[in-house]
Amino acid sequence: MIVHLNGQYLPIEDAKISVLDRGFIYGDGVYELIPVYRRQPFRMRQHLARLQRSLDGIRLANPHTDAEWESIIRTLIERQTFDDQGIYLQVTRGVARRDHAFPQGVAPTVFMMSNPLATPSAEQFASGVAVVTAEDNRWRRCDLKTTSLVGNVLMRQLAADRGAIETVMFRDGLLTEASASNVLTVIGGKIVAPPKDNLILPGITYGAVEEFAREAGLPFDIRPVTRAEAFAADEWWLTSSTKEVLAVTTVDGRPFGGGAPGPMYRRMYELFQQHKPK
Ligand code: PDD
Repeated sequence: MIVHLNGQYLPIEDAKISVLDRGFIYGDGVYELIPVYRRQPFRMRQHLARLQRSLDGIRLANPHTDAEWESIIRTLIERQTFDDQGIYLQVTRGVARRDHAFPQGVAPTVFMMSNPLATPSAEQFASGVAVVTAEDNRWRRCDLKTTSLVGNVLMRQLAADRGAIETVMFRDGLLTEASASNVLTVIGGKIVAPPKDNLILPGITYGAVEEFAREAGLPFDIRPVTRAEAFAADEWWLTSSTKEVLAVTTVDGRPFGGGAPGPMYRRMYELFQQHKPK
C-alpha cells in the first residue's frame, strides 16, 4: 500500500516518523476520513473546510492550500489498486523535544493513507445494528477532529465488549453523539438532530443527510434532544463517512423502534444511495 508522508509517496512499511512526534507523545494533531466511491471523493470540499476548522481550533497553521490537498488526495487514490477507499489524513504539530507548549519553527507532520472503504454489510443496512448507551465523559471540544481519541476509544470498546457496534452518549441529560458517528432521531414524523455545538463533531454525513432530507421535503429539525425524548423516539440513525446512514434496532440489549429499520430510515437510505458518486 502506498501512503503519503511529508511530501513523499512510499510503501507503508517505509513510512517512519520520530518517537518525538507530538502526535505520538501528546495526540497533538487533527485528522479527517474522506470516503471515496469508485475513485471519486465524496464531499471533499466539506472535509477540507472541517480540517481547516480543526487546525484553527488547535492553533496549527494549515501546511497546504485546498488545491494542494486535493492534488495529494487524488494522487493517493490513483496509486491504490482498489476503487472504493477511505482516505485517512492527519496533521500533527511535528517533532520536538517534549514540552507541552508549542515548539517554535517546527514543520508539521503530514501523513495520509488509503484503505478499502469498509461500509456496513447488506445485512446491517437491512436489519439495523445494536448500540449501548453511556454518559458522555469526553472533553468539551468534541467539535474538533483531533487525534486525541482515548475518550472515544474507551466508549467504542464499551460497545465492543457488549457485542454492539457503537456507544450512544448523553451529557447532562441531552443526546450528544456516538463514539465514531453522529446520532439522528425521528420524533413524531420529523428527523430531529442535536445542534452542531462544541459537544459533537459536525459530521459531514450528518450535513449530507440534512441536505438530502431538505431537498426531498422531509422535515428536519435541529434542537437539543433529551434522554427521555430519545428513548421515546421512533427511530435512531447513526451517520458517518464509513457507515453512511445506519438504523439502530437494538439499544442496551433491548429491541428498539420495533426491532426493524423504520420508514423514514428506508427513505433516507434510498436518498443517500442516489446521491453517492456513481
Ligand atoms: N468518525 N462523531 C465522531 C466522534 C466521529 O469520530 C465521526 C467520524 C463522526 C461522523 O463524522 P463524518 O460524518 O464526518 O464521518 C461523528 C470517523 C469516520 C473515524 O474516526 O473513523
